[in-house]
Amino acid sequence: MTAPLRVAITGAAGQIGYSLLFRVASGEMLGPDQPVILQLLELPVALDALKGVAMEVTDCGFPLVRDIICTDDQATAFKDADIVLCVGSKPRGPGQLRSDLIKANGPIFTGQGQAIDANASADCKVLVVGNPCNTNCLIAMSQAKRIPKENWHAMTRLDQNRAVGQLSNAAGVSAGDVKNVFVWGNHSPTMVPDITHGTIGGEAIADVVDGGWLADSFDQTVRTRGKAIIAARGKSSAASAANAAIDHVHDWFLGTGHNDYVSMAVCSDGSYGVPEGLIFSFPCKITGRGTYEIVQGIEVSGEVRERMQKTIDELVSEREAVADLL
Ligand code: NAD
Ligand code: LMR
Repeated sequence: MTAPLRVAITGAAGQIGYSLLFRVASGEMLGPDQPVILQLLELPVALDALKGVAMEVTDCGFPLVRDIICTDDQATAFKDADIVLCVGSKPRGPGQLRSDLIKANGPIFTGQGQAIDANASADCKVLVVGNPCNTNCLIAMSQAKRIPKENWHAMTRLDQNRAVGQLSNAAGVSAGDVKNVFVWGNHSPTMVPDITHGTIGGEAIADVVDGGWLADSFDQTVRTRGKAIIAARGKSSAASAANAAIDHVHDWFLGTGHNDYVSMAVCSDGSYGVPEGLIFSFPCKITGRGTYEIVQGIEVSGEVRERMQKTIDELVSEREAVADLL
């Protein structure tokens, strides 16, 4: 019998939580043989709603769910956690930038970083989804004395998935035919989607998709998709965000499938001239269950390099803005 993994999810009664929980519980994140214990954290005001969501998970009869804990106490939620999905935080509304959330959301991650470090398993893997996710992850990681820096990730997989969706539509193929597309930098409009080394059906993307569309529309669409979703729905993305979190953790533990590497915002070790310590989206390959490496030797064009500098500069200024929380 495989021992259950403890998966803590913050903000579990929110929009993303409502999609995420059921897919973690069904085995989509960790595979069909991996039992889980769900440890769900909410604000006191949302505890009743959380209990309702937990009742619904129970009513699905998922064989992999061994227990569900609903709590407003961080220490209880993170106790012995093997994986923490940090979702709980404010979403932006129309007209706001993700970076506008830093004052409201940043302080959440000092307390949660400390509580994770004090209570979770020593090798706990943390994925920060709450925005601005790169800098929130930096804040949480900065509180850690015990859990290694490599274990703190932020989510840019949604940006990669958006790029794949756009490319597969443009080429008239399945998303599964698109390979090795990834994103550099911040989860913000300065991100740099990189298709240079990607393929569609084994051919270079630039040989398959119209160059004018790639230059004029693709890049802009991917970089501003979050805003477009808010304009259309009146609320930020939720099911696609939950899906990306499932993909990120799935690949971290079980491998990247047909991709050689995937986008993960991880602690920079100085690769590609990115200042050490920034949480930056790199192409990452998986080296074992829960371990990764930043892919080295990717050729970076002059244009991509120039744009990478803008996303680096933005992350450096976000880091300066939260210096008191680090
Ligand atoms: P939501 O408001 O629907 O849900 C957030 C939940 O978090 C609420 O139930 C709230 O009670 C809870 N919460 C707030 N502060 C908390 C705290 N300190 N501890 C525990 N729970 C807390 O929001 P949502 O749509 O689920 O979005 C959550 C976050 O995810 C937002 O910051 C949003 O911008 C971000 N997001 C990131 C990505 C990404 O790609 N990285 C994508 C979509 C959304
Ligand atoms: C997204 O990219 O959809 C999320 O970061 C939510 C947002 O505020 O855009």
